[in-house]
Amino acid sequence: MTSSVPHSKTAFQALLSRSSTDDLLTPAPQGEQLERILSAGVRAPDHGKLRPWRYIVVQGDARAALAHEVVAALERQAPETPEKKKEKMVHRFSTMPMVIGLGMALRPDGKIPLQEQVMASAAGAMNVLNGLHLEGFGGVWVSGVYCDDRTLLTRLGVDGLAGFLFVGTPQEPERVKRRPDVAHYMVDWNGLGDVSFPVDERES
Ligand SMILES: Cc1cc2nc3c(=O)[nH]c(=O)nc-3n(C[C@H](O)[C@H](O)[C@H](O)COP(=O)(O)O)c2cc1C
Repeated sequence: MTSSVPHSKTAFQALLSRSSTDDLLTPAPQGEQLERILSAGVRAPDHGKLRPWRYIVVQGDARAALAHEVVAALERQAPETPEKKKEKMVHRFSTMPMVIGLGMALRPDGKIPLQEQVMASAAGAMNVLNGLHLEGFGGVWVSGVYCDDRTLLTRLGVDGLAGFLFVGTPQEPERVKRRPDVAHYMVDWNGLGDVSFPVDERES
């Protein structure tokens, strides 16, 4: 599976065909291939070169340890969470071929607003998802209130968590999902008057 040759689809077809999935089997990317995929993350746009992204790669037995930490965080943040939901989370975090924590090192006191640092982290995560897809892997970005838990953040060595990526090889060929029509989400602004988007006109 390891190869330095990009997937044969054109880059643009690949961008349009990426689809999130948690129906994942081994293998997950390893070694140079994983480094190449994460390299796409650390070359996202980043105001002030703050490099906020911190990728925490978890596989093997460490997945169960992470699952335990995540559920403990969820119990602190949302004590009313039903047992069934917690069991499902333990199962997912323990059995995905690989989990990548989307950690953030944030600088609240500098010139660059926190929101921009979070956006740079998110742009990195998106590049990783696209990199996975280009290399023939798949994944899904998940998050929850557990990402705000200070104890979990300390354990993972970060100031914030943009979520986690579940990573592996899609079990089925990725499903073709219905996607929004971009024409509803764009306008050509003529410089006059207030902008109104087709999608919002339809909904109102
Ligand atoms: C920041 C962020 C957090 C997300 N958290 C979850 C989540 O916890 N659970 C979930 O099912 N989807 C979550 N999603 C949505 C999925 O990652 C995915 O985008 C969605 O299933 C649609 O699939 P698509 O990427 O193929 O359009 C999240 C997306 C983002 C950007």
